[in-house]
Amino acid sequence: MQERLILAIETSCDETAVAVLSGRQILASEVASQIDLHAITGGVVPEVASRNHLRALKPVLERALAKSGHTIRNMDAFAATRGPGLATSLMIGTSMAKGLALASGRPFIGVNHLEGHLLSPFHNGFVKPSVGLVVSGGHTLLINVEGVGKYRSIGGTVDDAAGEAFDKIGKLLGLPYPAGPHVDRLAVDGDRARYDFPRSMMDSGDFSFSFSGLKTSVRYLLPKLKEYRVEDLCASFQEAIVDVLVSKTLKAVASTGHECVAISGGVSCNTRLRERFQAECGALGLEVLFAEPQLCTDNAAMIGLVAALKLARGELSPMTTDIDPNLRLV
Ligand code: KG4
Ligand code: ZN
Repeated sequence: MQERLILAIETSCDETAVAVLSGRQILASEVASQIDLHAITGGVVPEVASRNHLRALKPVLERALAKSGHTIRNMDAFAATRGPGLATSLMIGTSMAKGLALASGRPFIGVNHLEGHLLSPFHNGFVKPSVGLVVSGGHTLLINVEGVGKYRSIGGTVDDAAGEAFDKIGKLLGLPYPAGPHVDRLAVDGDRARYDFPRSMMDSGDFSFSFSGLKTSVRYLLPKLKEYRVEDLCASFQEAIVDVLVSKTLKAVASTGHECVAISGGVSCNTRLRERFQAECGALGLEVLFAEPQLCTDNAAMIGLVAALKLARGELSPMTTDIDPNLRLV
C-alpha cells in the first residue's frame, strides 16, 4: 500500500515549522526560528511570536513542499499542533492546516505538542512500553508509555521546567536566550564539583521535580563570589539538574518494570544528560532512546509522526476542533 502524505504544521511557541511526511518517513522538515527576535527581549513575547508566525508560515510551507517534491494537491491529510502553547501562536498553524484541509477536501488532524515530543525517540521503530521523559522549555514530564495513545502520568515539575531552569539561570549568568545550548557548550570546560547546588526533591519519595530553588541558590551565590569561571558555574548547576533527572527517571523505570527509557524535548539535546543516561541505563541493562537532535527542539516532523499514527488508526479531528493552550497529555 502506498504510504499516505501528511503536511504538518507546528506553531505552538516561537518556531514556525512545517514538515511533509510519507507515512512515518520525513520527506522535508523546515523550521524558521524566531530566536534572534526573542533574544532581544530575553524571552518570548506572545504577540511578537504570532505576528512572525503569520509572516513566516507561507514561505516555510512552500520550502517544505519544494524539498519534499510534492504539492498541496498530493497531500492526504493536514495536521497541526492544537496545544499546549501560546493561544495566538497555536491559532496561526491550526487555521492554516484547517484551511488547507477544507479547500482540498482532506482531513484535518489536531496533535498534542507533548505527544509529538514523547514519541519522537521512536521515529525509527515502533513505540514500545517505556518511561518517557519529556524535558523542554515548558515541560518536565515523566510518563508511563504502554503504547500509542496509552499514557499515564508518573510525575512532573511543581514549578520551573528543566529548560526554563537552564534559560533562567543562564540569563543570571549573562548568557543569551535560550541559554540551554550555551550552558551545554560552556560546561564542557567547567568543574562540575566546584559548586554544590541543591538537588531539590531528590529524596522526596515521589516523582516530582522542583528547579526554582536551584535558580534562587545561583542568584544568592553570584553577588558573594569575588571572581568565578562561568564554565564552572554552568557545569555545576547543569550537573544538579541532570542528577535529579537521571535519579527520578531511573526510579520511575524501576516502578513500572519497563526496560526502555525514551528521552525527548529541547533539553534532551544536552551532552551531559545524554552521557549520564547512556552510562547509567547501560549499567542497569536498560535501553535508552533519544530523539535525533533535529527532532529534540520544536519541529513539525514530530507532529507529523503523531499525525501519521492517528491517520493509520482513523483518528481524524473534526473541523470544529479548537486550540487548547492548556491541553494535557495525561
Ligand atoms: O522542546 P523545545 O524546543 O521547546 C519547548 O517545547 O519548550 O525546548 C526548548 C528548551 C529551551 O529551554 C532550551 O534552552 C533547551 O530546550 N535546550 C537545551 C539544550 N538545547 C535546547 N538545554 C540544555 N542543553 C541543550 N543542549
Ligand atoms: Zn516543545
